[in-house]
Amino acid sequence: MDWLRAWMMPPQGSEFAKEIDFVYMALFWMSVLLFLMIAIPSVYFAWRYRYKPGRVTPHQTHNTTLEVIWTVGPLLLCVGIFFWGLNGWMKYSVAPGESMEISVTAKQWLWQFEYPDGSRTINDIHVPVNKPVKFTMTSEDVLHDFYVPDMRVKHDIIPGRYTQIWFTPTVLGPHNFTCAEYCGKDHSGMKGNLTVDNDADFAKWMETGGTEWEDYFNGKDPKKTPADWGKITYERVGCNSCHTTDGTKSKGPSWKGVYGSMVQLNNGTSVLADEAYIRESMMQPQAKVVKGFDPIMPTFQGLLKPNQANGLVAYIESLK
Ligand code: CUA
Repeated sequence: MDWLRAWMMPPQGSEFAKEIDFVYMALFWMSVLLFLMIAIPSVYFAWRYRYKPGRVTPHQTHNTTLEVIWTVGPLLLCVGIFFWGLNGWMKYSVAPGESMEISVTAKQWLWQFEYPDGSRTINDIHVPVNKPVKFTMTSEDVLHDFYVPDMRVKHDIIPGRYTQIWFTPTVLGPHNFTCAEYCGKDHSGMKGNLTVDNDADFAKWMETGGTEWEDYFNGKDPKKTPADWGKITYERVGCNSCHTTDGTKSKGPSWKGVYGSMVQLNNGTSVLADEAYIRESMMQPQAKVVKGFDPIMPTFQGLLKPNQANGLVAYIESLK
């Protein structure tokens, strides 16, 4: 029946996944069995005791044996399921002491992660395989919910409070995570990638911020230009949750046609949008705020690796 589980559930990416799927499928088959145990006799009795002229129904007051069986049986079943679930929940609630700890800050509409060495990423996490990893999570604004389907973990994130989840990833490669609590207009875009690396790749990623960039600078993917990498960064880092590239106004000004133009600021002056202005706006967004917009952009200082910032500048330049 493994095909049914594979069809019903996301791929299994952690130790939890196997345990949770086992409980889930057991409950599923119990439900199927109980459904049949009730539905088949119902249909049979409806036919067997259907109306016939002259048939008299025998008078039954009660049947003690049957009543004890159908009371005590389900009671034992439910109590058993409760302790089974409790056992899993206890394990799920307490992370092992040796877990790597990643801080998560959720905000409309992106995910910010901070590693033990202080390096930070947006919408992008790498974790080493077969090692427990713990997420300590909080929100800067509204309720969000960190959900990694392949790992079978999901937990609400609450402003002013810290919540935790943990898991041990067992399957290498990319897995999705997403926000599972409706949190406003771009809730559906609040998602990202969790990549499970072997130890060597993970160490390399922690140093360089990703092998893809390294490949680019080593000329391994000559088809991609800096602007292409800028576009990838635009989506991965979450610039797209506030800036459009087609001229439409969003929470922040659109990037289309910005480069080389004169930008009106909210202090009444204007500035030429050159490379220096664009870099300043990423790292110190409050320095020059565009007229008609609120000073709500967070700084990307320390969040963007230098090559990602270069890519973004090239991408903005390319948006004529
Ligand atoms: Cu954050 Cu939905």
